[in-house]
Amino acid sequence: MFPTDRPRRLRTDELRPLVSETTLETTDLIAPVFVDATTDERVPIESMPGHERVPLSAAAERVAEVRETGVEAVILFGIPASKDGHGSRAFAADGVVQEATRRITAETDATVITDVCLCEYTDHGHCGVIEADAREDPTLTVRNDETLELLRKTAVSHAEAGADVVAPSSMTDGMVTAIREGLDDAGHDDVGILSYAAKYESSFYGPFRDAADGAPAFGDRRHYQMDPANAREARREVRLDDQAGADVLMVKPALPYLDVVAATRRETDRPVAAYNVSGEYAMLHAAAESGWLDLDATAHEALLSIKRAGADLIVTYFAERVAERL
Ligand code: PBG
Repeated sequence: MFPTDRPRRLRTDELRPLVSETTLETTDLIAPVFVDATTDERVPIESMPGHERVPLSAAAERVAEVRETGVEAVILFGIPASKDGHGSRAFAADGVVQEATRRITAETDATVITDVCLCEYTDHGHCGVIEADAREDPTLTVRNDETLELLRKTAVSHAEAGADVVAPSSMTDGMVTAIREGLDDAGHDDVGILSYAAKYESSFYGPFRDAADGAPAFGDRRHYQMDPANAREARREVRLDDQAGADVLMVKPALPYLDVVAATRRETDRPVAAYNVSGEYAMLHAAAESGWLDLDATAHEALLSIKRAGADLIVTYFAERVAERL
């Protein structure tokens, strides 16, 4: 007790590094990259300063830029040339993510993770096959078990193109089991699964939905993504994906859900990832733009906090910027 116990003793410049509990390293970071089949030029994303939708022809160049900052892994999102009811461009052998993966693995040493979802590929913008009358009746939604087949095909097509890890983000029940079976049957038992295990129906995805053109055309995602009110349910989701064999378990978003990141860390011995989403990125940029926050200091502190909560890996739009300053 005070006056004998004085925590400040350890806060000198000499001792602080010795007792530091958490570190942030470039190898903890995964950078999102958007590849757009509808453009021939690199197009800046207005709501996500510093990020672009790049054409296929620039995909490898874009990833090489990421690698130059020391960040080794990217997660690819695709904007397809066309959309339909079943999101068939998501699992086309010559789809945008498949082509980008081929080029990136041929021209760089990056670790390639691919987002596996249908919302950027369906004309209705939902993350799977929808009920016939869903447009008229908001109580109807994505048909779970039919969607599994499409996710499996998508994941296998990414693996065939050379993806190291596939990352299902659709919150379809059984998605990890279906994808693991599909990958193994196709001889891709070495391809890992990073599951968006606890993904919330969050308002923090706004800028991403502009960037990837993946907003639902009607309704919302509350019938498949998690209710922000629930934390115990996240533990259950994490246990299910752990048992199904997901190699890495992810929580999304990150900062408003650090309690869930910490609970996930306690729930599993597998690596835990957190997705510092587009809204979290936009928030800091907007405040910095107004001169209200220091962007580099707050970005670093935000990512360090996500690690302190228990994440091993962070998907973040700050990856390059923070890595350059580490
Ligand atoms: C696809 C997907 C989304 C994000 C990642 N994968 C959008 C969504 O679920 O609406 C959001 C990422 C972000 O906001 O940075 N399902």
